[in-house]
Amino acid sequence: MNLVSDDIHAYCEDHTSQVDALYERLRQETLAKTDLPQMQVGRVEGRFLKLLVQMCGAKNAIEVGTFTGYSALSIAEGLPADGTLLALDINPETAAIAQRFFDEAPWGSKITLQLGPALDSIAAQEGPFDFAFIDADKANYANYWDALVPRMRPGGLLVVDNVLWSGTVLAPETDSAKAINAFNDHAAADERVEFVMLSVRDGMLLARKK
Ligand SMILES: C[S@@+](CC[C@H](N)C(=O)[O-])C[C@H]1O[C@@H](n2cnc3c(N)ncnc32)[C@H](O)[C@@H]1O
Repeated sequence: MNLVSDDIHAYCEDHTSQVDALYERLRQETLAKTDLPQMQVGRVEGRFLKLLVQMCGAKNAIEVGTFTGYSALSIAEGLPADGTLLALDINPETAAIAQRFFDEAPWGSKITLQLGPALDSIAAQEGPFDFAFIDADKANYANYWDALVPRMRPGGLLVVDNVLWSGTVLAPETDSAKAINAFNDHAAADERVEFVMLSVRDGMLLARKK
């Protein structure tokens, strides 16, 4: 899934802040117990998410697609002590792993994990959110975006993962690549935000609500 060589990725990891040992245990358990452990954001993107949360001074955050909790823990770590992260996922098995690690992490009490289709969960929220991370089913990326942009405060940051889909957006053939390609065009035409697309890991879109 890396767009850069394994050597460059390892070099980036070597020059990225270390994390609490709990993250490595979460990584190992995810490798052992789940079918698609590569969905986890990992240390470089995780530290980047934490930095972004800190840099925009976010207090209320939302995550669409929590899986076993690596990104949620990273985001929550960057929030202040009274900050909150609403973490959304549809899979009870991986959510159970995530919740166990949230219960263990000293900062995990900032996270509320909600099970169910994320579009329904978002529709029940008023916001405003300071920070949003979209990392769930690719077919719904444009729908998550459309639901979340109005719920962001001005100056709030939306981060969307996997926007390069291993580079296949250049000539999309699979349903996911086509959906992400269409989403990228949708977001790029949205005048409510200013944005930058980065080739970090599998591609990240950063968008600031005007
Ligand atoms: C790429 S993984 C998220 C990885 C996670 N951010 C991490 O760093 O570990 C995508 C997640 O989206 C969830 N998902 C898929 N469709 C969903 C839906 N309609 N509503 C909520 N979650 C959904 C899946 O169960 C899966 O856990």
